[in-house]
Amino acid sequence: MVKYTLLHKPTLSTWPSLPRQVKTIIVAGIFITLTFLVLVQAARNAKLRDLYNMKAMTAEILDLEMRFMPELESEISDRWKSATVTDGMIYSAYLDSRPEIVLEDRHYDNSGENTWAVIRMIAVLPLAMKDKPLTCYLEYRGVDEERGIIQNRTASRVQPIKENWGLKYSAFFVLCDLTLPVNMDFEEFYYAQHLPLKVALANTTLANLDELQFVNVRYPEGGVNQANDDEDEFLAVCGPVLHHEYGRALHLVEFIEYQLMLGAGHIMFYNESVTPEVSQVLAHYVSRGVATVLEWKLPSIYKFELTLRVYGQFAALNDCLYRSSFHKNYKYVLVSDIDEFIVPRMHKDFKELLNFLDPPNPSGVRNQYASFQFRNVFFYLMYGDDKTNYDPDVPYLYLQAKTERVENPQKPDRRSKYIARSQDVVEMGNHFIWHHRPGTSVFSERFEQFVVDPDVALSHHYRDCEAETTGCYLRPTLIDRAAHKYVKDLGKRVRQACTDIFKESGCPAPTD
Ligand SMILES: *[C@@H]1O[C@H](CO)[C@@H](O)[C@H](O)[C@H]1NC(C)=O
Ligand SMILES: *[C@@H]1O[C@H](CO)[C@@H](O)[C@H](O)[C@H]1NC(C)=O
Ligand SMILES: *[C@@H]1O[C@H](CO)[C@@H](O)[C@H](O)[C@H]1NC(C)=O
Repeated sequence: MVKYTLLHKPTLSTWPSLPRQVKTIIVAGIFITLTFLVLVQAARNAKLRDLYNMKAMTAEILDLEMRFMPELESEISDRWKSATVTDGMIYSAYLDSRPEIVLEDRHYDNSGENTWAVIRMIAVLPLAMKDKPLTCYLEYRGVDEERGIIQNRTASRVQPIKENWGLKYSAFFVLCDLTLPVNMDFEEFYYAQHLPLKVALANTTLANLDELQFVNVRYPEGGVNQANDDEDEFLAVCGPVLHHEYGRALHLVEFIEYQLMLGAGHIMFYNESVTPEVSQVLAHYVSRGVATVLEWKLPSIYKFELTLRVYGQFAALNDCLYRSSFHKNYKYVLVSDIDEFIVPRMHKDFKELLNFLDPPNPSGVRNQYASFQFRNVFFYLMYGDDKTNYDPDVPYLYLQAKTERVENPQKPDRRSKYIARSQDVVEMGNHFIWHHRPGTSVFSERFEQFVVDPDVALSHHYRDCEAETTGCYLRPTLIDRAAHKYVKDLGKRVRQACTDIFKESGCPAPTD
């Protein structure tokens, strides 16, 4: 009988063989690290609590200041303005007083001033300006209406918005701190101005204040605490930058009517260039009060896809986020292009769908998931039309005619579209959220994205084959009539809108 002997006793760890002093050092190291983490966390929590307290105490006075601000030009006068920075432009500015954001960016902390909020500007700048020193000029109300009081301070963040492909220019967030002296007493606070009317941006070599071009700061219409009350509006849609003479009037009507029918309260569009017919469609919805159309003309130094992505679309998207939810009072934003439709499969509309995905919490605590991604599925236009539920009196609808689809939805994050709870989002991308708000919890995890099950809802994409056509034909398909539950009502709405806008001739055929 062979006897096996273990030559070495297997050691599971080297710990027992370590000299005593080394062990002591390691244990002490772990202890110090943990203590440090606990202290850092405790300090963060204390600062957050201070910021929340400050917000609660100052809200009424700030709301009063907002109410008595001089009348600003209306939103539709917002335009790209030149920043006094080589090749830089600014478009809009919003108040961001979310304590986690103020804390995260570690603004002035120790100079006898406390940052209580930031003005968040939407800009286009050379990508090389990232983190470079730029100066914010904040204009406050002056003694007379003519000339305001101008203060300057270094921007606390000069941060590219993602998806810039490393091109020469990029959309940017520029943050300018609003601060209070550490020991301000109530009376001083009451009589001071806290909210700039306008803001401009320049590099550090500005010679003359007259060179500055200001954009209006858009404040929350419902007051600084608008996000915390239950009176918020439901959902706004962020439409695309319409460019290259966008000419699909009928599809645009189908898109808008669909969003309204499913519960959207408002739709944003950015108008680079459209045909006169599409302009008529947009004007119709503007006059009904359900759409805002902003002029979006960037100078020609920014070349489509060569030096700047899709006409600054990422500036537009994030402008829409802040405009819809930090100026207007919408709880959710939906991001979609005109040939894409988020179609609920188990619910009747967006309200029911969101009630399911983001159920109200009796304790008032916000759910950890703050954005809901819907996977993309192609309904290629080259497939034949479906005549089921066809009504000859109704204009052509994608949702009715196109029911053959690629069997497998795209993987998550690939061309997906989403709905997000705006107050818990910092930066939006085309297909998902890049940056959620940090949480208030002990370890400050951020809010998160949830990928919605294809059985609950999908993002239907009605377009030409994006690859070479035979390749597309080889993909297995199936017939999917999930959207047909909407076509009867949608058809009526589209027919009515086309008659309202174009009289008997109805919506014209696409021009491209
Ligand atoms: C600052 O911006 C101005 C205006 O665009 C430009 O003429 C100047 O060269 C810039 N200075 C620096 C240091 O970039
Ligand atoms: C910026 O503000 C300081 C005072 O706060 C002032 O002395 C300075 O001249 C200002 N700079 C510019 C370029 O306006
Ligand atoms: C869109 O922009 C064009 C100019 O490019 C303008 O003529 C048209 O009136 C605008 N349409 C709307 C609805 O704002």
